[in-house]
Amino acid sequence: MKKISVVIAALMVPGVVMAWPWSTDMMNQPSIKPQEGVMTPFPSRSVPVSGIPTTVANREETRSMTNPVTVSEASIKQGRNLYIIYCSVCHGRTGKADSPVSAKVGAIDLTDAYVQNDLSEGWLWGTITFGSYVMPAYGVVTEQGGSNDLSVEERWHVVNYMKHALVKDATAAAVASK
Ligand code: HEC
Repeated sequence: MKKISVVIAALMVPGVVMAWPWSTDMMNQPSIKPQEGVMTPFPSRSVPVSGIPTTVANREETRSMTNPVTVSEASIKQGRNLYIIYCSVCHGRTGKADSPVSAKVGAIDLTDAYVQNDLSEGWLWGTITFGSYVMPAYGVVTEQGGSNDLSVEERWHVVNYMKHALVKDATAAAVASK
C-alpha cells in the first residue's frame, strides 16, 4: 500500500504531469516567436520618439558630421557593449580582425592608423549607419539587407569607443595574454 501512495505522489509532481501526452504545450502556437523567421523592420514613416534627428541620406554625406555625444566613461562603456554585440563577430573582440570569420569576410583591423587617424568620426558613424561594401548597415534597411538595430545615439557611442578606447583595450588584452 505504501508503494502505491509513493507512485501516486510522484505522478502529482508538476514536472511529471507536464510530460503526459494529453497536456498540450502552450508554447507551441501560431504566433511568431523571438528569433523565428525574418525580423520585421519598423513600419515606414514611423517616427522615433527619442534620440537625435539626422538628415543624411548616404555615407558620403556623413564625412563631415560632428559627433554630438561627448566622450565619457558612460558613453565608452555603452559603446564597448554594443561593439562586442554587433561588431566583434567580424572585427574581433579587440578590433584587430582576429575573430574566426574575420579573414573569411575580409574584415579590417579597426585599431590600424587608417581607421584611427584617417577616417573621420562622421565617416565611422556613416559606416555603421549605411554599412560599407561587405559590411552590413546598422542604421538603415537597404536592398542588400541591413537593419536599424542601433539608434543614432548608440552609433555615436560605438564611434566614441572605437576612437577612444578600442586601441587601449586591444593593448591591454595583448599584455594580459602574454
Ligand atoms: C558581417 C561582418 C561585419 C560586421 C558585423 C561589421 N563589420 Fe565592419 N567591416 C566588415 C568588412 C568585411 C569591412 C571591409 C570591407 C567593407 O568596407 O565592407 C568592414 C569595414 C569597416 C570599417 C572601415 C570602413 C571604411 O571606410 O573603410 C569600419 C570603420 C567598420 N567596419 C566598423 C564596424 C563597426 C563599428 C561594426 C559594428 C557596429 C562593424 N564594423 C560590424 C565586416 C563587418
